[in-house]
Amino acid sequence: MDLFSLSNYNGLILGTSGGGKSFAAKLIIMRSLLAGIRAIIIDPQGEYCGIAKAFGGQIIYIKRGCRETINPLELSGESPAERILWAQTLFSLMLGGLTGGQGEIITRALEAAYESKGVLNSDQQSWQLETPTLSAVLEIIAKWRKRGSNEERQACSFLYSRLWPHIHGSFMGNKTNVNLDKQVVCFSIAQMPDWMKPAAMFVIMEHVHKRMQTDKERKMLIIDEAWSLLRHEEHSAHIFELVKTARKFNLSVMLITQEAEDLLCTPAGKAVIANTAWKLLCRQDSAVIGGMREKFALSVQEQSFLLTAAPGEGLLFAMNERIPLKIIACEQEYALATTNPNETAGEKKQGWQNAK
Ligand SMILES: Nc1ncnc2c1ncn2[C@@H]1O[C@H](COP(=O)(O)OP(=O)(O)OP(=O)(O)O)[C@@H](O)[C@H]1O
Ligand SMILES: [Mg+2]
Repeated sequence: MDLFSLSNYNGLILGTSGGGKSFAAKLIIMRSLLAGIRAIIIDPQGEYCGIAKAFGGQIIYIKRGCRETINPLELSGESPAERILWAQTLFSLMLGGLTGGQGEIITRALEAAYESKGVLNSDQQSWQLETPTLSAVLEIIAKWRKRGSNEERQACSFLYSRLWPHIHGSFMGNKTNVNLDKQVVCFSIAQMPDWMKPAAMFVIMEHVHKRMQTDKERKMLIIDEAWSLLRHEEHSAHIFELVKTARKFNLSVMLITQEAEDLLCTPAGKAVIANTAWKLLCRQDSAVIGGMREKFALSVQEQSFLLTAAPGEGLLFAMNERIPLKIIACEQEYALATTNPNETAGEKKQGWQNAK
């Protein structure tokens, strides 16, 4: 199936844990890479690194002290005020929500940071200048711990201690130096604590989204464990926009998730379903099959097929058709795609033979 010949180029893989979702995604990625398509992967479990390595791509390990950095305060055409508005969402993800008072301190600190670099709302020319970094904003808040009223000092101390782990030595504390030039780039965020992932993914997604709009080459953005994004309102809005506009810049977004509930019940999930031209349903849990039956008009046979499907089996929906599918890997693909922790190199060969 040529993904780029469909009404839009987005796809969704949905199924229970161990059903073969990531495995199927990896096969699609590898075969697309061989066809010259570029791929950027957001990899929460660190399981796509083998593919990036095998195809001479780049792996960006997002963790404290990593070399690659993205500066979320960079401007690309917008004013500092617009960027500050966007940054409120980022800070809200870091802090698990923002009170009015915290939002105000952060806004002032961001304004002071832009001003210190001579980047001013009133002077469009200055938007081209070097922008401040989040580390600089953190330093400003650190200074404010020692001035103003007792209440302000306390608020700044609290913000500083909560923001420090997200910013100090992190991939978003300094100037941008990542480049996405390789055919395949894998952002591995497996080494980050779970509570830091939403903010990190927000920054990565926005950066990738912006970069991907600059050319018309065929490319894919693969987001595994997408449920972790769909659960956050901040991310939902972004995914919504991404899937709706991707086709215009020749982008295929592939979302992989095991949480049917998030798709069936959230506005972003519904937008994903409406804007993905193909969907692969792998094995489903009995708890969600009712909702799936309604959404996908599954027959009794289809329901029982999905309840008992083996890893690698599924139902493909595309172009008003539904096709039962078995995903078959060749030996080399199997070795790169399997995540079975018990398989050594020799057993990978055996696993592949069993899978056949
Ligand atoms: N098409 C296939 N052929 C052979 N083996 C497969 C196939 N699909 C899956 N498997 C086996 O099942 C394992 C689990 O598959 P996979 O990692 O894709 O699960 P998943 O649906 O992504 O689960 P999770 O939601 O927990 O990430 C694979 O590591 C592989 O060993
Ligand atoms: Mg998986």
